[in-house]
Amino acid sequence: MSATDSIFEWDLARFTTKVGTMDREHEGLIKIMNQLYKENNSGTDKAQLLKTATLLATKTTEHFAHEERYFSTLSKYEGAGSHKLIHQKLLSQFGEHLEKFKKDPSGKFNEEFFRFLKVWLQAHICGIDRKYGELS
Ligand SMILES: [Fe+2]
Ligand SMILES: [Fe+2]
Repeated sequence: MSATDSIFEWDLARFTTKVGTMDREHEGLIKIMNQLYKENNSGTDKAQLLKTATLLATKTTEHFAHEERYFSTLSKYEGAGSHKLIHQKLLSQFGEHLEKFKKDPSGKFNEEFFRFLKVWLQAHICGIDRKYGELS
């Protein structure tokens, strides 16, 4: 796999939340992100890019709901409220990026969008999400 094929490599040992279903969902989200990145770099048409990005948005919305349901069952998880707010913010930023893309005549996602995905991945999956894992 060349450097341009993916923006992020899934690594269970490094990213595990110790909650199997969440790990599998994270892995699935990263797979779609990498697919989108690859399609964007290989000149895939706008309709297909929009389809993949919409799938990512849907799966992300579902994942956040699963996660929130899960950590609401943890009595010791004090970060639940702020974690939910971060989810909301990520979804609204994602929505803004999608709207920008729809209007963009280039028909491609820009660097800023992939930077957003990368920061989200690194800060969220590898950081905040592992906090509830520590309590599991
Ligand atoms: Fe999360
Ligand atoms: Fe997550």
